[in-house]
Amino acid sequence: MGKEYEVGVIPGDGTGPEVLSEGVKVLKAVTEKTGVQFNFTHYDFGGERYLRTGETLPNSAIDEFRQLDAVYLGAIGHPDVKPGILERGILLHMRFSLDQYINLRPVKLYPGVDTPLKDKGPDDIDFVVVRENTEGLYAGSGGFLRRGTPDEVALQESVNTRRGVERCLRYAFEYCRRRNKKKKLTLCGKTNVLTYAFDLWERVFDELGQDYPDIETDYGHVDALCMWMVKNPERFDTIVTDNMFGDIITDLGATIQGGMGIAAGGNINPVGTSMFEPIGGSAPKYTGKHVINPLASIMAGCMMLDHLGEEEAAGLIEQAVMKVIQGHMKSMEASMMGLSTTEVGDWVVKYIRSDV
Ligand code: IPM
Ligand code: MN
Repeated sequence: MGKEYEVGVIPGDGTGPEVLSEGVKVLKAVTEKTGVQFNFTHYDFGGERYLRTGETLPNSAIDEFRQLDAVYLGAIGHPDVKPGILERGILLHMRFSLDQYINLRPVKLYPGVDTPLKDKGPDDIDFVVVRENTEGLYAGSGGFLRRGTPDEVALQESVNTRRGVERCLRYAFEYCRRRNKKKKLTLCGKTNVLTYAFDLWERVFDELGQDYPDIETDYGHVDALCMWMVKNPERFDTIVTDNMFGDIITDLGATIQGGMGIAAGGNINPVGTSMFEPIGGSAPKYTGKHVINPLASIMAGCMMLDHLGEEEAAGLIEQAVMKVIQGHMKSMEASMMGLSTTEVGDWVVKYIRSDV
């Protein structure tokens, strides 16, 4: 018998339930194989519940999540709910109140996956973005003056605390060391314009760098870095950045690793409850058609296991996913996979069981 974990499951909206049930199916196969146990508690937070009750994510649920080992989420976003309500009320509320201050987003091109980058392959595209996840422009600081008048002023402030910046950078240095690849940490900023926020980031980065002589430090302005991600992705190992830049560059990252069908992320509180999710949204257009790619969700489960210290079990999932990609899938894109959503999950399960 392996260890036992309490996992909160939030299928959410749109294609979220379809992809998450494949992820749960895969975790159950991992249990059969390794003995690592999961007790799943289901929560129906999302657009439907909001439309029915007006509730997004109550604080009582946050308190329950604190008792869990991890939260596993499908997708949030409903076509009948005004944009922002569910994102802020569920996703950001969870990230902030559980203090999930790291958003970890690997950008890895698996063999057999198409990338839009010409002449680039799996050896070139393998890096991780460490995105600060509780501050910056997402902090919700700002307001209106004279709203609705011709003299209106709208302020949206980027909040960067010494403590918040430092813990994010320290996590990135440690992660880069543990990852043990190129041992290079790139700070992505905009020191030439954001002369307060990124002055702080750069000072702390240089300071912490002294504690990590084994890690090469590197800096790129966010705009130039976007260009390098396309032209020279091989120059990256670990990238650390603030919340907004991290949001933007990880969509670019997802694109070069084969799209939203495969991109997964973890919202991590190293000493609390972390949450794992596909980076893509609820894809209303594909909902219920059984054509959405569940691999991003399955890989989010893989990241969850890795985070829980179950590296071997995580490795089983990754190996199985790689075999399914190479042997059975035509594309990572929804409706182009040559398989249904559940068939992709079935293949992953089959390889986990079979050891071949
Ligand atoms: C993401 C999403 C969210 C974000 C939205 C839905 C609030 O784009 O996880 O990247 O901006 O963080
Ligand atoms: Mn995003």
